[in-house]
Amino acid sequence: MTVRQNIVLIGFMGTGKSSVARCLAETKGLTAYETDSLIEKKANKPVPAIFESFGEEYFRRLETEVIAELSGVEGAVVSCGGGAALRGENVELMKRIGIIALLCASPETVYERVKAGKNRPLLNTAMSVEGIAALMEKRMALYQAAADITISTDGKTIRQICAELLGRL
Ligand code: S3P
Repeated sequence: MTVRQNIVLIGFMGTGKSSVARCLAETKGLTAYETDSLIEKKANKPVPAIFESFGEEYFRRLETEVIAELSGVEGAVVSCGGGAALRGENVELMKRIGIIALLCASPETVYERVKAGKNRPLLNTAMSVEGIAALMEKRMALYQAAADITISTDGKTIRQICAELLGRL
């Protein structure tokens, strides 16, 4: 099956966006773009250092810039940072890029996937199932409003998630 449209992946941290993007790139020959990596290139600093030196607002400005710069890509899967779909301006830009797929996971699953990591500044003070659940709850309505397709990832392998997503295009 040929993928005819770009795919934009959104969702909370630790829902598997980057791994799913890599899988789609490998199996479908799409080019994978990751907004966090593009932001890091622009700022010449890792994400935590950007937050620390310049603050979240600055990070969000760069995030909008890189999403805007992706307009016009073809044969692409774009993995967006977990906060990207919370801004209406970004969602408008994403809609122009392609179909928006929301990856979901329970707070327990997210916690298991992210607990060892130190590269997510917004989880520094919320690194618990309860902290994740609270932030997820605040964000969920905006994620759902942005999404064309929603996929639950709990208990599924990356390959299963990719297959399910491709089947729903
Ligand atoms: C963020 C998610 C991160 C990264 C930044 C902020 C968020 O990306 O963009 O730390 O606000 O949810 P991942 O979703 O890839 O972890």
